[in-house]
Amino acid sequence: MDEAIRGFYFNTMYNLLKGKKGIIFGALDPNSIAWQTAERVHQEGGIFVLTNVPAAMRLGSIDVLAKTTGAQVIAADATSVDDLEHLVDQAMEVLGGKIDFVLHSIGMSVNVRKGRHYTDQDYDFTQKGWEVSALSFHKVLQVLYKKKAMNPWGSIVALSYMAAQRVFPDYNDMADNKAYLESVARSFGYFFGKEQQVRVNTISQSPTPTRAGSGVKGFDEFIAFAEKMAPLGNASALDCANYIVVMFSDLTRKITLQNLYSDGGFSNIGVSQEVMKMFEKQ
Ligand SMILES: NC(=O)c1ccc[n+]([C@@H]2O[C@H](COP(=O)([O-])OP(=O)(O)OC[C@H]3O[C@@H](n4cnc5c(N)ncnc54)[C@H](O)[C@@H]3O)[C@@H](O)[C@H]2O)c1
Repeated sequence: MDEAIRGFYFNTMYNLLKGKKGIIFGALDPNSIAWQTAERVHQEGGIFVLTNVPAAMRLGSIDVLAKTTGAQVIAADATSVDDLEHLVDQAMEVLGGKIDFVLHSIGMSVNVRKGRHYTDQDYDFTQKGWEVSALSFHKVLQVLYKKKAMNPWGSIVALSYMAAQRVFPDYNDMADNKAYLESVARSFGYFFGKEQQVRVNTISQSPTPTRAGSGVKGFDEFIAFAEKMAPLGNASALDCANYIVVMFSDLTRKITLQNLYSDGGFSNIGVSQEVMKMFEKQ
């Protein structure tokens, strides 16, 4: 990201989340979308608990983020309902009340990691990836819902990718996981809205150089292609973080059951002039 733009974001504070309490899943290292979100939420006055799997805590540097944002870290595997129940109880105790915002920023495909092609999946890998990337969102929602842990007008956001709607051959089984994730946001969001006045949305983000993103085959070429297609260029992790802040704020109280694009316009482009130029006869 251009340093001047970063400086603008970091020096521009609106106190949008003053007094709000939350849980942020998925900060691994400074590239993580959840990491950048935690920094922006902190700047906007929100307080939160950070959570990740114990292995990620050892691998990454979440303690550094916890220190700079004054957050407590509570370990939880998002595929375990027991872990999630403990997390939500602890978070309410640490934060001193119910929750206003939750970010689900979790994704992992074992088929992608092990280089298994979409047409040659190992179904144990498929199942594991689905549990981590998609079903975990239902579990997070169900635990929060049953515990009535969210304040009215609270906001829950999960991160998605456009392969849920269109074909991106190398995105593999993550495409199916994202389609499921977006459907859960709508289906659960209905009950959360009706009964607890809580919003549930997904944000569909541009390809972003993070640990999870870079695992996808041909990622560097793909991110360059998307950059040339999108009229505003790819949305960075920080751009996504800013969108999430708005979705957590009171400015978006009537927005729910939506899949919202943070992608510089990519999702509505057929072809761009820049990409056409690449095919012009020399
Ligand atoms: N990077 C991209 O190109 C891109 C684009 C669109 C959407 N997304 C989505 O954004 C989200 C965040 O990914 P990122 O790009 O910041 O990468 P990242 O690798 O920094 O974050 C993924 C996180 O998921 C966590 N995780 C894995 N298994 C878990 C489990 N069982 N329980 C709890 N946490 C677990 C990891 O520890 C890690 O912190 C994911 O849902 C991803 O699919 C990423």
